[in-house]
Amino acid sequence: MPQTLLALNWKMNKTPSEATAWANDLKASLQLGEAEVAIMAPAIDLQALSWFLKDTGVQIGGQDVSQHESGAYTGEISAGMLKDVGAKYAVVGHSERREYHAESSQIVAAKARAALNAGLIPIICVGEGLEVRERGEHVSYTLDQLRDSLAGITIASAEQLVIAYEPVWAIGTGKTATAADAEELAAAIRSALSGLLGEVGAGVQVLYGGSVKGGNIREICGQPNVNGALVGGASLEVQGVLDMVNAL
Ligand code: G3H
Repeated sequence: MPQTLLALNWKMNKTPSEATAWANDLKASLQLGEAEVAIMAPAIDLQALSWFLKDTGVQIGGQDVSQHESGAYTGEISAGMLKDVGAKYAVVGHSERREYHAESSQIVAAKARAALNAGLIPIICVGEGLEVRERGEHVSYTLDQLRDSLAGITIASAEQLVIAYEPVWAIGTGKTATAADAEELAAAIRSALSGLLGEVGAGVQVLYGGSVKGGNIREICGQPNVNGALVGGASLEVQGVLDMVNAL
């Protein structure tokens, strides 16, 4: 299993100037330990981050990617563009994209395939909303979403894949799933991946996301099937990132 992945999702925060200042602050104080750190920044910040973080070992990635390779798709960013600017990852199917941009799992799968074709590692997000959780259907709902979001992905390409389990009710709410909740779904996801993709599937990194911070990351990432975290709010301040890196 690869090292723990700390994927930071800034969402729609930080101008290029703010991103540059943040990167310089991070550089001055970060000592990378066991975890790989990757920043999923707004596309317009990536060039500056790529430059200011070069030689630090910190990776960058997109928060979304087009399912199309190129052409008349105004406003879209292609996987090739992300790759060219130095990105290693692209988040696809974040619940905010699914909800506010009506992205179906079929679209998410097409985006994941586009990322893989360009040599990026897609971080495919899945997870249930509160109503589903309260009905006790969170496992079957999330696994259905996972299967649909992996449509057309071959065993050969699956080696370069990350899955993030993000219960929607825990995102930005301060309500963290318990470590046991995170492990329940991470284990179910790993077992489903192993059924779909064999040995390669069993080795896929599974992250947890939802109100992760310095105070809870160690317990969550200490679960047997959780290999890292996808972090929103706590990634905006450099100190928040240092707290998480130091806690791991
Ligand atoms: O992509 C990150 C997740 O949506 C989690 O966000 O850490 O602010 O809850 P959060």
